[in-house]
Amino acid sequence: MPCGYRGRIRGFVDVHSHVVPSGDDGAATVQEGIELCQIAFDAGTRVLFATPHAHAAWDTFPRTSGRVDIFERAFPRVRDAVAEWGLDLRRGWEVYPSLLTDGPVDLDTYRLEGTRAVLVEFPGWWLRIDDAVELVAAAARRVEEAGLVPLLAHPERCRAVADDPTSVRPLAEAGWPLCLNGPSLTGDHGTTAERIAWRLLDDGVVSLVASDAHGFGRPPRVDTAYATVEAAVGREAATPLFDGSAVPWLA
Ligand SMILES: [Fe+2]
Repeated sequence: MPCGYRGRIRGFVDVHSHVVPSGDDGAATVQEGIELCQIAFDAGTRVLFATPHAHAAWDTFPRTSGRVDIFERAFPRVRDAVAEWGLDLRRGWEVYPSLLTDGPVDLDTYRLEGTRAVLVEFPGWWLRIDDAVELVAAAARRVEEAGLVPLLAHPERCRAVADDPTSVRPLAEAGWPLCLNGPSLTGDHGTTAERIAWRLLDDGVVSLVASDAHGFGRPPRVDTAYATVEAAVGREAATPLFDGSAVPWLA
């Protein structure tokens, strides 16, 4: 296994990726999905969640029945192929927060398989959303009220958080794990995301790091982010961000 971190960390757990076809901007075919999973496995990932976009109805990739069909047909094929190597591929969705606040929703639909978690995304920098942090907090409360745990994806890519990084502290203090994108830490999402990611890490409000992989140009690997974080804060502080310690697993 060409993983430079074997022996230091048993395996990375990556809660956020678009490696299974669903009609979004991630993997387009089962074969591409398998090849992406090979990259993840070679980089030391041992549990990988496939989390297609569940956008708001007005956005690019709403969770239509057609997209669910694509995902449900592709997922078992990719899962069964990669299981032969020892990669544990699981279902999930990446949920835009207004889906959880605009009406009744079956949260089990969105749960990360084998956990009590729902991956809720901060609106990206390309969206101008008023009160984005409050929108995420409202969605997180809905998840918590259902007895589940909101994992909050890429705060560092949200305009409102870049404007005021302290705005997410109450969310972290509520017990809601904040999940950075690894590429933000390594500068691959631009200088603003990099600066804010490190600021949030320094502020102690980050619980985990994921790839948010979308394809070969944004691959499902977190080993480079791990190396960068380990160099900055040491192994003891870095490891829990990458090894699944922060994931609320089902017993
Ligand atoms: Fe994503």
